[in-house]
Amino acid sequence: MTSDIDLSRDSVARVREAADIVEVVGEQVRLRRRGRTLEGLCPFHEEKTPSFSVDPDKGLYYCFGCHQGGDIFKFLMQTARLSFAEAVEQLARRYGVKLPPRSPDGERRRQESDRLRSLLEEAQAFFAARLGSAEGAAARRELERRGFDRETWPLFGFGWAPDDWRQLTDELGRRHPTGTLIAAGLAVQPDARTTPYDRFRKRITFPIRSVDGRLIAFGGRILGDGEPKYLNSPENPIFQKRSTLFCLDRARRPADQAGELLVVEGYFDCLSLHRVGITNAVATLGTALTPDHARLLRRRLGEGDRVVLCYDADEAGRRAAMTGIRVLLEAGVDVAVLVLPDGTDPDDVVRDGGAEAIRELLKRPASALEFLLGDLPEQPEALRREGLKLAPLVCAASNAATRQNLVEELARRLYLRPREIEEHGRAPARREGPIAPPGAAAARSAAPGERHLARILLECSPDWRARIVERVHSELIIDERVRSLLEAATDLPGDLAQADAVRELLGRCADERITSFVAELCNSDWPELTDDSIRSQLRVLLERQGRELSRRLAPRIRAAEERGDHGELELLLAEKARLRQKSADF
Ligand code: UTP
Ligand code: MN
Repeated sequence: MTSDIDLSRDSVARVREAADIVEVVGEQVRLRRRGRTLEGLCPFHEEKTPSFSVDPDKGLYYCFGCHQGGDIFKFLMQTARLSFAEAVEQLARRYGVKLPPRSPDGERRRQESDRLRSLLEEAQAFFAARLGSAEGAAARRELERRGFDRETWPLFGFGWAPDDWRQLTDELGRRHPTGTLIAAGLAVQPDARTTPYDRFRKRITFPIRSVDGRLIAFGGRILGDGEPKYLNSPENPIFQKRSTLFCLDRARRPADQAGELLVVEGYFDCLSLHRVGITNAVATLGTALTPDHARLLRRRLGEGDRVVLCYDADEAGRRAAMTGIRVLLEAGVDVAVLVLPDGTDPDDVVRDGGAEAIRELLKRPASALEFLLGDLPEQPEALRREGLKLAPLVCAASNAATRQNLVEELARRLYLRPREIEEHGRAPARREGPIAPPGAAAARSAAPGERHLARILLECSPDWRARIVERVHSELIIDERVRSLLEAATDLPGDLAQADAVRELLGRCADERITSFVAELCNSDWPELTDDSIRSQLRVLLERQGRELSRRLAPRIRAAEERGDHGELELLLAEKARLRQKSADF
C-alpha cells in the first residue's frame, strides 16, 4: 500500500522513540512486571497462563506460545489490521510527532495524485449523470437485467460512458489541460496528429477504489458485443493493477467477520455477490493473482482466516485457480477453492439461485489439495507419480501450520509418509534452510551457536560488536536472519547504546521475520552475558568457521600440489595455518 507520507527511516525512528509500547499494548493486554520485561495473556491466541512478553527497553513483544512477535508498529498492524504506513501515522498523531514536510519530489507526486483523483471524481459525476439521462436508457435496462435495481446504482457507482467520441474530453477539457486527462487515463491520443478522444465509450462504468476507499480508476463493460469486453483505466501513479483488488475497500470488514475472503475473476461476479449480500468478495482486475495481491490479502486476514478462490468453472478458471493457490501458499495465506457447476461463473450462480446457492456451496469448499488432486488418476502408481509433483508446491507454503497440514494431507492421499513428501518437495540444494515462518520449529531452526551470536550482538557493548563484525564471517552463517543482523551491524555507529543499536538494526533489516526473531531473543531468559561468556561463545563459533574455511582451501591445495606450483602451495598452506590460528587468539 502506498501512503502519501514519506516514511523515511528517520521519521519512523522518531515515532518509535516517542511511542510507549507498554501503553499501547497495555490497552489490549493486562501486563504485569516480571524483572526486566512485562508479561500478560497473549492477544493472538487463547491461553490461561501468560506467555506473552514485552521488553520495554527495546520496544519489542513476543509470545512464547504462538511465536508472534515484533515492534510497536507490527503490534498495531496485527491487532488493528493496519498497514505499516497507517500504523506509523496513527502513532505519530497519538504521540504528537510531526512527520516532516515531504521532499520536493514527494510533494510533487502528492500534488499530481491529488489532481488525478479530483479529475476522476469529476468523471464519476459525469458518468453517473449520463446513466440517468436519455442516452443512458439501454445501459439502465442492462443493469436491471443483471439484477441491479436502480436504488443500488449509487452504492456501486455505476455510470454510462456515451457511445460517442469526445463528450467527456470536451466537458472536462473546459476546466483541465488535456495532458491531465490523458494522464488520468480518461482521454487517449494515439499520436500527435489525432485529437484526444474518450477512452471509455459505449460502456457501463464502475469505479475502482483503493483499499481505503479512494477512487483510483474506472472499469467499463461494453454494452452488447464488442472488444474488449472489459476495459480498465491504464496504470498510472495512483493505479497499479497488480496490487489492487476490486471491492477490497468494501470487503475488508465483512471478511474480518467471516474469517474468509472470496476472490473471483470477474467484475460482475464480484458486484453480483455484493448485491446479494455476500460482501466479503473481491476480484482481480483482469489479471492473475499476483504476489502483491497475496501480501495485501495476508495483511488483511487474521490468524486462521483464509481465502476462498471462486473462479469460473472452465479451463481458464481452473488454471487461474492453480496459479492462485501457489501464489497464496507461498505468501503464507491459507486457501480453499469453491468449485462451481461446470461452465458457470459466480455471477451465473447468483443470478440463477440467489445468495442461497452460493452460501450452500460455501459451506463445503474444496481444500487446496482436494482441488489439485481432483483430476489425478486413480490407479495407485500413476496417482503417486502425479501426486508427488505437488510436493514442491505444498512444501513451498510459507506458513508452518498450513504446510504441515498440506504435507500430511498429501501423504495420506498418496499412501506415503510425510517425510517422503518433504524429501520430494524440498527445493534442490537450497543451502539457506527454509524461510523461517513464525512457527515453533522455525523459531528454533537457527544453528544453536548462531542464535547465541545473534543474542550477543543485541546485548553486547559497542566494543564487542565491532570485534564480532570484524571477525565473524557472515557469509558462513546459515540462518539468514542472523546473517542479516550481522551484515546490518557492520557499520553501526560505535557509540550507540544497546537499546538504540537494536532499534537501528531493526530499522536496517526492515523485515518482519527478523523483527520477530529479535523480539523472541530479547524477551527470552538467557544466562547473564559477561566478557568471559562472550569470549567462549565466539571462540566456538570462530573455530568452526576457521575449520570450514580451511576445508574450502583443500581442493585448491590439492590442485597446486598436482601442478607442482610450490609458490601457490606455500601461500595456501600459510593461509590455512592463519585461519586455524585466527580463532584461538580472542
Ligand atoms: P469473462 O469473459 O468470463 O466475463 O471474463 P464475465 O465476468 O463473465 O463478464 P460478463 O458477465 O459477460 O459481463 C472474466 C473476467 O476477465 C476479465 C474481466 O475481469 C472479466 O470480468 N476480462 C475479460 C477483461 O479484463 N477484459 C476482457 O476483455 C475480458
Ligand atoms: Mn465469466
